[in-house]
Amino acid sequence: MANRPNVLEQLRDRLDEIFGEPTAASVWGSLSQPKAQTYWLNPLQPRPDSFAPFGKRLEGFDGAYHVDHVDRESVTRHAGASDGWLYPINPSSLLAVRVLDAREGEEILDLAAAPGGKTLGIAASMHNTGRIAAVEVVKARFHRLRANLKRCGVTNTTFYLADGRSIGRKVPGRFDRVLLDAPCSSEARIRLADPTTYAHWKPRKIRETARKQVGLLRSAFQALKPGGVLVYCTCAFAPQENELVVDALLSSGVDAEVEPIDVADVPSLPGFNTWQDKTLDPRIERAVRVLPDALWDGFFVCRLRKG
Ligand SMILES: C[S@@+](CC[C@H](N)C(=O)[O-])C[C@H]1O[C@@H](n2cnc3c(N)ncnc32)[C@H](O)[C@@H]1O
Repeated sequence: MANRPNVLEQLRDRLDEIFGEPTAASVWGSLSQPKAQTYWLNPLQPRPDSFAPFGKRLEGFDGAYHVDHVDRESVTRHAGASDGWLYPINPSSLLAVRVLDAREGEEILDLAAAPGGKTLGIAASMHNTGRIAAVEVVKARFHRLRANLKRCGVTNTTFYLADGRSIGRKVPGRFDRVLLDAPCSSEARIRLADPTTYAHWKPRKIRETARKQVGLLRSAFQALKPGGVLVYCTCAFAPQENELVVDALLSSGVDAEVEPIDVADVPSLPGFNTWQDKTLDPRIERAVRVLPDALWDGFFVCRLRKG
């Protein structure tokens, strides 16, 4: 029997196919590079007057700082992290919250919410006003989400243990903004030194995940008010989980526009407008692919407005 390529060889080949050289090599390099640790000061929880932010400021994100990877425990083991006022988070998650741009008093749907880092950021941008509906389908993750947000001082959120694909039918046209931080193959979380981070990665799983993402995005769009904003994001590199999912929505005849995203302060590429032999809706170029480096996790984010 011919030798089958191992998982890492398959992954490396896919990065080549997705990004081409030299970007594929730098993305691959970032998967073996230790990451800086970013944290965000959660304004919903009081912090001691004596606290002075440490590390470097993350430009473009109020209250966010990062420390070198060798100092990561100064963040993860900080007393503020257990008290909920200092929140370890990757800048890509902060970007998703910035792109959603929730306002005071609005009604927001967070359709795949656990463990809740982005829900927390949204609640903070709304100063705990309005209402967030946070949906999570996995029971243990649902309980963790509730406990996490309570610890962090979030009071404007209602929690639903439900499949996000059912929500659009139940409450069509309801929300001012919807965040779909979709379950994905988590390729950007792969660490080459840690086989547990890629034990479940396989090309076949990407196809299954993409089908689910298409169903979730359709539901998210249905739940949105006319004129409302929908942010679709993943931490996958695969175009099947990103541009093709958005393309499936746009080509289903919905009235939607893809809006530009300001990423002057973020290492990124525009969304792809072709994949293999398929030509995609050209507006998907307004989506953003965050390129992973020593600070940022790889990420895809697309902002849509319902007509
Ligand atoms: C990428 S994670 C979300 C991370 C979260 N937004 C945060 O920032 O902390 C995706 C979540 O979607 C959940 N999920 C998977 N399938 C789902 C479904 N059909 N409906 C709702 N949530 C789902 C997963 O259990 C997982 O918790």
